[in-house]
Amino acid sequence: MRILSGMRPTGKLHLGNLVGALQNWLRLQEEHQCFFLVADWHALTTGYADTSALAANVREVVLDYLAAGLDPARSVIFVQSHVAEHAELSLLFSMITPIGWLERVPTYKQQMQEMPDRDLSTHGFLGYPVLQAADILIYKAEGVPVGEDQVPHVELTREIARRFNHFYGPVFPEPQALLNVVKVLPGIDGRKMSKSYGNQINIADPPEEIRRKVAQMVTDPTRIYRRDPGHPEECSVHMFYRVFAPEVQDERAEACRQAARGCVECKRLLGDALVEWLAPLQERRRYFEARPGEVGEMLREGADRAREVARLTMEEARRAVGMFHA
Ligand code: TRP
Repeated sequence: MRILSGMRPTGKLHLGNLVGALQNWLRLQEEHQCFFLVADWHALTTGYADTSALAANVREVVLDYLAAGLDPARSVIFVQSHVAEHAELSLLFSMITPIGWLERVPTYKQQMQEMPDRDLSTHGFLGYPVLQAADILIYKAEGVPVGEDQVPHVELTREIARRFNHFYGPVFPEPQALLNVVKVLPGIDGRKMSKSYGNQINIADPPEEIRRKVAQMVTDPTRIYRRDPGHPEECSVHMFYRVFAPEVQDERAEACRQAARGCVECKRLLGDALVEWLAPLQERRRYFEARPGEVGEMLREGADRAREVARLTMEEARRAVGMFHA
């Protein structure tokens, strides 16, 4: 199966991105032909007015991809805008996509409400899912690993593929959303970990910062005194043990229920465990951070490999539409 997924470059990735997306991608790259992009065009749809951090954000995401273990020897890792065919196919799809379909995408109105300070009444923002359809279909990807929020975009991609095939003949397969094994990781305030809440622990956070953030995490709210028995199933810290140190989760949970260990101590131990868990990722990150030339070369190669496939699809699409070619 051919797989494609990507993330918008909004800065350093956090543990929610790692557990919710990147770990699934790692599994998929073992068995499938995978394309992983950094969606810089998509970042422009909402961030066009201030692009001062765009290049740096792309770099951070690439470093986090590599830190997590995406492997350029197995997967095609590249920056969306480096392969011009994404833009070209997006324009072609825009010809056949009814505006009503786009206005009905739930993320459209939602995001507008979430970012009232930005003028999102633009052509580009409305066309966000058309561009995403082009990302997916330019590689004829069959599987798209995404979170729940992105399912409507994959559904729209299927509809665009169907409509294209109906007008011009069969060119595009209809891709499937591969739902991420949803592990919603809480942030340090107990809400879902998210950059927009500012409650995240980044993959790249230095050990002392990780320990400091873990020490701030909210625990079982009904455990007020050290002597009160706790409820691990209600506790963010326990959630982290389940994901990052499953070998000790039972002991930690039991000690919590028995009030044999306090939250401060439990969090100190988690801080240590998390720092240790992240050490190999951070080492990889530092390795690539110190070698920008190597990363640049890797991205050029990734774009070249992606372009080879993208060109063929674009050629086929142009022919199907009946565009002049000499
Ligand atoms: N829209 C996706 C998100 O916000 C990012 C993305 C861009 C994407 N192109 C893609 C995801 C193609 C899957 C496939 O998370």
